[in-house]
Amino acid sequence: MTSELAVSAPAWREGMEHEYADVIAKLGDRLPCLEWPLHLPWIDAIRKLKAERGAAIMAHSYQSPEIFHGVADVTGDSLALAQAAADCDAPIIVLCGVHFMAETAKILAPDRMVLIPDLEAGCSLASSITAEDVRALRAQHPGVPVVTYVNTTAAVKALSDACCTSANAVQVVEAMGSERVIFLPDRFLGAHVATQTAVELILWNGACEVHERFTGQQARQAREQFHAKLVAHPECPPEVLAEADFVGSTSAMGRWLAQEKPERVALITECSMADNLRTQFPRIDFVAPCNLCPHMKRITLPNIHACLAKLQYEVTVPEDVAAGARRALQRMLEVGRRERV
Ligand code: 13P
Ligand code: SF4
Repeated sequence: MTSELAVSAPAWREGMEHEYADVIAKLGDRLPCLEWPLHLPWIDAIRKLKAERGAAIMAHSYQSPEIFHGVADVTGDSLALAQAAADCDAPIIVLCGVHFMAETAKILAPDRMVLIPDLEAGCSLASSITAEDVRALRAQHPGVPVVTYVNTTAAVKALSDACCTSANAVQVVEAMGSERVIFLPDRFLGAHVATQTAVELILWNGACEVHERFTGQQARQAREQFHAKLVAHPECPPEVLAEADFVGSTSAMGRWLAQEKPERVALITECSMADNLRTQFPRIDFVAPCNLCPHMKRITLPNIHACLAKLQYEVTVPEDVAAGARRALQRMLEVGRRERV
């Protein structure tokens, strides 16, 4: 039995549905009343423990709605979470996302304790490339700058000139001031970025196991069957992106919906995106297809509670690796600051 299963679930209290009317309203039909006794006691216990510990909970947009709307202080895409970690005052950060996100938070907030509720929450992109691979690429292409997607280990970031996310990849690539850039590790994001810049990109063979599964046929079917607008994440294969009305990062998808206000939309990305955006856009009808990220879904209310109760699992990065990774991450954040002025 795992340690978190050994902790008994907190009990339902009379009137809890009134105390948490705000959460119930946000979750709507994603939290039917039959499930209130399952989730609300955990949400209540986590909120109390979080306040006692002075912790901040940061949740990626791919987290389940009960986490995203129930307990998170900060929500957003990889870039927003990295920025929030850099600016965070809380002594403890609980990162509800995958391991590279917790590492990024630790690198940008080295004085904070950074916890992840499940150490096994990995990422197929992060495991597609090692520091040794980056050294070999640099030797093969001397003098060519390396831009690395944040979905990588700290050791890979440390050997990179700059990091990027899907929200700022084109700007970061162009900020290198070079005619050629090594862009790692997502071949689909890289191919999409290459369509938007004159910089020649040298790509790696990594892919997101969630987004690479979508097919052009599924995208066409969503349009024809549901008469939906198609919005796709750039980690999808090119034949999917070719079908899309809009291609954009997690944060750009939200902005596009706010601007275009489509009647019906298929978000070709992780399933929780649509679940979480439904609250913000109640008039939009969100339809299939979507795929679940098995790594993101390792994070649950019970293991967030265990994480705060036992201060587990702490994520650390050796300072020699962290220093190089921090430089690459700060270069990315600097590009973002320049874009905003
Ligand atoms: P963003 O949060 O950068 O859009 O990335 C999507 C993703 O797959 C995160 O793991
Ligand atoms: Fe990694 Fe893809 Fe899961 Fe994001 S959705 S954590 S890129 S496997």
